[in-house]
Amino acid sequence: MLGHTAAKLITTPIISTQIRCLSVLSGIREQIQNELQLIKDAGTFKHERVITSPQAARVTIQGRDQPLLNFCANNYLGLSSNSEVISAAKSALATHGAGMSSVRFICGTQDIHKELEKKISTFHQKEDSILYSSCFDANAGFFEAFLNEDDVIISDTLNHASIIDGIRLSKAKRLRYKHMDMDDLEMQLKDNQKSRRRLVVSDGVFSMDGDITPLKDILFLASKYNALVFLDECHATGLFGKSGRGTEDYYDVIGKVHIINSTLGKALGGASGGYTSGPKEIIDLLRQKSRPYLFSNTLPPPMVAGASKVLDILMRSSQLTEKLASNTKQFRDKMTSLGFKILGANHPICPVYLGDARLATGMAEDMLNRGIYVIGFSYPVVPEGQARIRVQLSAVHSSEDVDTCVNAFAEIGKSKGVI
Ligand SMILES: Cc1ncc(COP(=O)(O)O)c(C=O)c1O
Repeated sequence: MLGHTAAKLITTPIISTQIRCLSVLSGIREQIQNELQLIKDAGTFKHERVITSPQAARVTIQGRDQPLLNFCANNYLGLSSNSEVISAAKSALATHGAGMSSVRFICGTQDIHKELEKKISTFHQKEDSILYSSCFDANAGFFEAFLNEDDVIISDTLNHASIIDGIRLSKAKRLRYKHMDMDDLEMQLKDNQKSRRRLVVSDGVFSMDGDITPLKDILFLASKYNALVFLDECHATGLFGKSGRGTEDYYDVIGKVHIINSTLGKALGGASGGYTSGPKEIIDLLRQKSRPYLFSNTLPPPMVAGASKVLDILMRSSQLTEKLASNTKQFRDKMTSLGFKILGANHPICPVYLGDARLATGMAEDMLNRGIYVIGFSYPVVPEGQARIRVQLSAVHSSEDVDTCVNAFAEIGKSKGVI
C-alpha cells in the first residue's frame, strides 16, 4: 500500500500531464478548424454524398426518395454490380477466405493471386505482372524501386497525383515536359543522353480533360533516344480501344509500351487493387524492392476473384466496350450539335466545358434536381476559369438514359444562356 504522500507524488504529475495534453490538442484543433475554414472560404471544400445502393446506372442516395441516373462514376463497363463478378467474389470468399492477414512474401500469396497476375499479363501482352492494393500504391512503389540517382524521369505535367508522389520518392533526376508537348519531350530526352536510364511517364488518358496522350509519338521519341515508356492506364484499361486493352489498343500498338500501371478499381470491377505489368526482370525487382508490395497486405481473395472474372468477361467478348463506345459517341455528337463544348476526344470522360465555376456548380445542382447525378469541377482541381461538369458514360447506360441526360443539359443550358 502506498502512503498518502507517495500516492500524491504519483497522481499529481499524471493529472498535470493530462491537462497539458488536452491544452496542446485544443490549440491544434483550433489551427485545423482555421485551416478547414480557409478551404470552405475558397469554395473548395468537398462534401460526400452517401449512396445507399450498389454502384450502378441508377443509384439511391441518402436524403432523396427517387433514384438518380448516375453519370459520375468510373464504373465504365457497369461491372461493379455484375452478377457473374459478384458470384465469383462470393465463391472465393467461401474457398479462399475473407483475407490473408499477411503481405505477399510471408504467407500472402494464393493460387488465385498468381492466376490473376497471369491473366493481366496475357491481357496486356506483357511478360509478367505484380498486384498491389491500389494503383496509387503501384505508382508509389515503382519509381523508387526501379530508378536511382543515375537515371532520369521525364513526366507529363498533368500526370495523376499518385505518379507525382511516386516520382518524389525516387532518387532519379526529375523533369517534367509540357502537357502532351512532343517538342518539349524531345528536347529533354536529347539533353539527358548521359543518364543510365531514361523513363518517359504519362497517363494514357487524362482524367480531367478526357484527352489522350500521343502514344505513337512518345514511342517514336523513346526509341530514337533510347528511353523506356511508362503509362498509367487507369482510365483506359478494360474500356478503351477496340478490345478494351487501353491506349495501346486505341493506337493499335498493343504490347509496345514497356511498363503499364493500372487499377482494378474502375472498369475492371470497381472494387480495389492495382498492378504493374511489364518485362519479367522489372517485375522480379519490384517483388524484391517495392515498398507498398513488401510492407502492405495482400489483396483479399474476393477482390482477386472478382477482377479475374472481369478479365474473363473482357477476353471472351467486346460487347461491353462496343456499347460504351456507342454511348460515348451518342452523347458527344448530340451535345456538340446542341452547341456545348465537350473536351477530350472519343473517350467516355466527357467534360462539358463552362468556364465559370459558379455556373458549373449551379448547373450540376439543377441536373441533380432533375434526377441526374453529375459533378462540377472547378479550381484548384482544374485551372482557374476552366470549370466544367464532368460526365462519364458507362456501358450499362441505355440509349434512353443518354438521351435523358442530354435533354436535361439542353433545357438547363438554354435557361442559363450557355447554348
Ligand atoms: C490516372 C490515375 N492513376 C492512379 C489512380 C489511383 O488508382 P487507385 O484508385 O487504384 O488507387 C487513379 C485514380 O483516381 C487515376 O485516375
